[in-house]
Amino acid sequence: MLAQRLIERKRDGGRIEPGEWRALVLAYAAGHVPDYQMAALLMAAFLRGLDRGETVALTEAMMASGLRLDLSHVRSPRVDKHSTGGVGDKVSLVLAPLIASLGVTVPMMSGRGLGHTGGTLDKLESIPGMRTDLTIRRSVQQIERLGCVLIGQTDEIAPADKKLYALRSATATVESIPLIASSIMSKKLAEGIDALVLDVKQGSGAFLPEFERARALAETMIDIGRSHGRDVVALVTAMDRPLGRAVGNALEVKEAFLVLRGEGPADVREVTLALAAEMLVLGGAVPDRAAAHRQAQAALVRGRALDKMREIISAQGGDARVLDDPDLLPRAPVCSDVHATDGGVIARMDVRAIGAAAVALGAGRSRLDDEILPGVGFDIRVRPGDPVDAGQAVATVFATDEEAAAHASEALLTAIRIGAEAEPLLPLVSHRITADGIETLQT
Ligand code: URA
Repeated sequence: MLAQRLIERKRDGGRIEPGEWRALVLAYAAGHVPDYQMAALLMAAFLRGLDRGETVALTEAMMASGLRLDLSHVRSPRVDKHSTGGVGDKVSLVLAPLIASLGVTVPMMSGRGLGHTGGTLDKLESIPGMRTDLTIRRSVQQIERLGCVLIGQTDEIAPADKKLYALRSATATVESIPLIASSIMSKKLAEGIDALVLDVKQGSGAFLPEFERARALAETMIDIGRSHGRDVVALVTAMDRPLGRAVGNALEVKEAFLVLRGEGPADVREVTLALAAEMLVLGGAVPDRAAAHRQAQAALVRGRALDKMREIISAQGGDARVLDDPDLLPRAPVCSDVHATDGGVIARMDVRAIGAAAVALGAGRSRLDDEILPGVGFDIRVRPGDPVDAGQAVATVFATDEEAAAHASEALLTAIRIGAEAEPLLPLVSHRITADGIETLQT
């Protein structure tokens, strides 16, 4: 059958033609190709790579596996943001209502946790009652009314990516430039957007930790966007420490709500505002990035973004009282502090290991059918460079039982290295990449 021939060809370093990608992806989405064959093909693609034409063809095939949002009648520009995946990355929860509150339409379609990283959908679903599986019709109605919707792929939009994304998460085939780029762009192009801002992570918690690979990923996505007439801007941001303090779904939602009030950790605010400035300029709401940054900051401080989030949560069936009373969010029954075993400074953090420890607690999935435990995770109180004393509480673990808490504490203490001096940190927002080239923002 087709799948077996294609696996053989990719395994041997050959090329899969656009028509073959289309047939394979559609057959997989329809359940005619089993997971084991698709997993073998993904591994062959991971090891052998895809060329530009194959990457574009795979993107289009995944997009064509479902419907597209037709937003051509919406008058304000439609702009979305997507992150390549990180630990503690709750930016979308703030950014979407923030940008919508400033008049740019945000049809945001997010993914679930993948590998060691968290996913916006899992975070949103920790809000009691919140639905992210809206139909296209309802999504379009909400966009017309509120200028924003926060949804997942459902079975209507890029369903092939939805299946492949889950399969990649469980088969160690995530860290591939063409697979990540096509996955992200298939969803984004199906959303009916005019422009896209990408948050491309680098550092130990990124799928592609090295700058040059992060840059190549950004350029691949910019190229796919251009082949569909969309403006795409990428910011390269740091993932050599978790973003903010909270790691884990409900904990991150709580932290995002602080940022929506103009409070919360400075790094989450800074990354959010940098991405917001790009989105507002691409959406034509503000002429330049400096003015856009100021407007976005004011919208947080004055509560406009928070009010918009209230409307979005209510419209999607969620209990909007969580914004004022985050104790209504789920919380794990066991909560225990993690104490530093030595004194010194926080030398470095192995962010991938921190993400993996959160997944082991139940914040993400190790298998396709794993259930997410919304209340588990970490509150990490130290950053690289901070001085610590032996015995000092560096984090709190939220777990379902004492045993899970003990394992997670041990994993966290291994991931947070204490030494005599700190390794240099990556700049929080280091580069801006567009179709015209690359600009260094911070060194
Ligand atoms: N985000 C996605 O949507 N897909 C990937 O493959 C990685 C991050």
